Amino acid sequence: MARPRVLSGIQPTADSFHLGNYLGAVRQWVTLQETHDAFYCVVDLHAITVPTEPDALRRRSRVAAAQLFAAGLDPERSTVFVQSHVREHTELAWVLICLTGMGEAARMTQFKDKSAKFGESAASVGLFTYPILQAADILLYQADRVPVGADQKQHLELTRDLGQRFNHRFGDTFTLPEPYILKEVEKITDLQDPSAKMSKSSSSPAGILDVLEQPGPLRKKVMRAVTDTGSEVLFDEENKPGISNLLRIQSALTGTAIPDLVNRYEGQGYGTFKKDVAEAVVEAFTPIRERTEKLLSDETELDRMLAVGARRASEVARQTMEMVRDRVGFLPLA
Ligand code: TRP
Repeated sequence: MARPRVLSGIQPTADSFHLGNYLGAVRQWVTLQETHDAFYCVVDLHAITVPTEPDALRRRSRVAAAQLFAAGLDPERSTVFVQSHVREHTELAWVLICLTGMGEAARMTQFKDKSAKFGESAASVGLFTYPILQAADILLYQADRVPVGADQKQHLELTRDLGQRFNHRFGDTFTLPEPYILKEVEKITDLQDPSAKMSKSSSSPAGILDVLEQPGPLRKKVMRAVTDTGSEVLFDEENKPGISNLLRIQSALTGTAIPDLVNRYEGQGYGTFKKDVAEAVVEAFTPIRERTEKLLSDETELDRMLAVGARRASEVARQTMEMVRDRVGFLPLA
């Protein structure tokens, strides 16, 4: 039997992935390639829904792709590609936009949050249609599962609704994807503000651990992470959110269960514990950083790897769009 297909995407909006991206998405994508026919996409079309410098976009798209390979995505098994290389994404998005109600799109909470930042009327129409482009990404590949964080659930519901609506109106065309909500490690929080999710838009750089950061600054940030009153290493989200976050990080990186960590540090205070967390982070990130640097040092080769991914992705996308064009009633090009 054919393997189920997964598709996911990540935005090239930073010069490095951070620990939250790594544990919450990238590392789990690597595992999924063992059991799935995997498509992973650097979503540069989504990145331009907010103002973006062309040079920064180019750099960040390559950095994102390089980190995906460096983290363990195997180009033989996974199709890793850049969204804008496959023209069908925008083409299908247009068709789906025409099937979406204004009210339906206006209900998307991520748009509401993001547009609030710019002021409702300064937000682009692209930001408004962002979830519909995401639906196109998914439906184009007939994905069975979409590994995403819990914050993307609403976008997946919209994707299923739009797929179903198309199938109903024009005949069976799209596989309706199941959400595949990634493990709750998205609860990795900001080192300086444990009440906020680790995210590049939150707090100061001191709160974020970047995959491509050098060991020195990584250690410093962990040692300076806000901790809680008291001196015991205990898992207590309510009263010890800072320590609990570090325990979660340590557990995710070393595979040791949190209660076992709590036992290990009994009577030792925060210092020793933090040093070990810092080492776990450095150990996890260093090989990825080194491989990423190597990949980035040969852009021609990296671009060639992405061209291979784009060709494979295009093959699938082309077949889906052929059906879509015909069913919608677009004339064949004679
Ligand atoms: N919106 C997703 C996020 O912010 C990124 C994304 C774009 C995506 N297209 C996708 C995720 C398709 C899964 C499938 O994380």
